[in-house]
Amino acid sequence: MIFITGATGSIGSELCRSLAAENTPSRVVYRKEGQQIRFEMLGLEAVRADFDDADSMRQAMRGCDKLFLLTSPDPKHAEREIAIIKLAIDLGVQHIVKVSTANTNQSSTLAYARSHAQIDQYLRHQPIDWTILRPTGFMQNFLDYAHPIGKGILPHMLGDGQISYIDLRDIALVAKHVLTQAGHAKATYYLTGPASLTATDVASELTAGLGIEIQALNQSEVDTRKALGYSGLDAWHIDALIEQFKIGANGGEIDVTGEVERIIGQAPRTLTQFVNEYRNHFLTH
Ligand SMILES: NC(=O)c1ccc[n+]([C@@H]2O[C@H](COP(=O)([O-])OP(=O)(O)OC[C@H]3O[C@@H](n4cnc5c(N)ncnc54)[C@H](OP(=O)(O)O)[C@@H]3O)[C@@H](O)[C@H]2O)c1
Repeated sequence: MIFITGATGSIGSELCRSLAAENTPSRVVYRKEGQQIRFEMLGLEAVRADFDDADSMRQAMRGCDKLFLLTSPDPKHAEREIAIIKLAIDLGVQHIVKVSTANTNQSSTLAYARSHAQIDQYLRHQPIDWTILRPTGFMQNFLDYAHPIGKGILPHMLGDGQISYIDLRDIALVAKHVLTQAGHAKATYYLTGPASLTATDVASELTAGLGIEIQALNQSEVDTRKALGYSGLDAWHIDALIEQFKIGANGGEIDVTGEVERIIGQAPRTLTQFVNEYRNHFLTH
């Protein structure tokens, strides 16, 4: 039985759909009333618990032998995920598959790169099987900019920096694969899309796919902070995003790796495919 955290989120929802399609015994954790219905309709078990309530997590995870670990980074990120790992090992879980992030090291200037690195290091030293997935920036992040994109502007702060964007549906496919197939224990996979792209390249793809002229607009840090301030994000997340953009602008992102195709046997989705599939979302905002 696979225990799935983050099931109501972006990657988790996709993972649940593909596990359910193969009738893989899985149990999801959800925390808000009503969220269980979609999982029950898929034929998955759903148990209500909160990551920060150890008793509820203990009850929910009991009897599972694999864990898909994904939580939302915040100042308690490392403490929270390490507590979930300890609990899983205590309950007899044999394999943990964790979603981390590509630019990860413990002295990073980026808060969630540091916390992911700390968790990854902890996990690697545990006496069970583990697989760490380190994806680059998600193509779906562009959906957060659907409104300006629909008006012809792609705001960014990346200069000429390149990012090998990945469609998060491919991360979910890799996760399903490593959770259900042998041969992925004690492995760290850097997951990228098929091309490293500048913001200008992305704007060209959007122009071609949406049929409207989109300009990449390189914003100052001050303007980016102002714009993020309207998004409802708190100061911790805004600081982290600004730092992430600076790393990207300074050429700090990883190259295309080819890991997705090697693991799942099919090429990762291109940005062209992504834009075509989400065309209506961009054009109706
Ligand atoms: N975005 C990127 O470009 C990028 C790139 C590389 C790596 N990553 C990593 O990817 C992960 C985010 O993946 P995602 O976008 O799929 O996540 P997401 O959509 O933000 O989902 C977060 C999930 O965690 C659940 N959750 C949060 N706090 C909880 C709590 N206290 N108790 C129970 N459930 C809780 C949420 O439940 P609710 O539905 O109830 O809120 C949701 O299911 C992060 O680790 C991030 O660092 C992101």
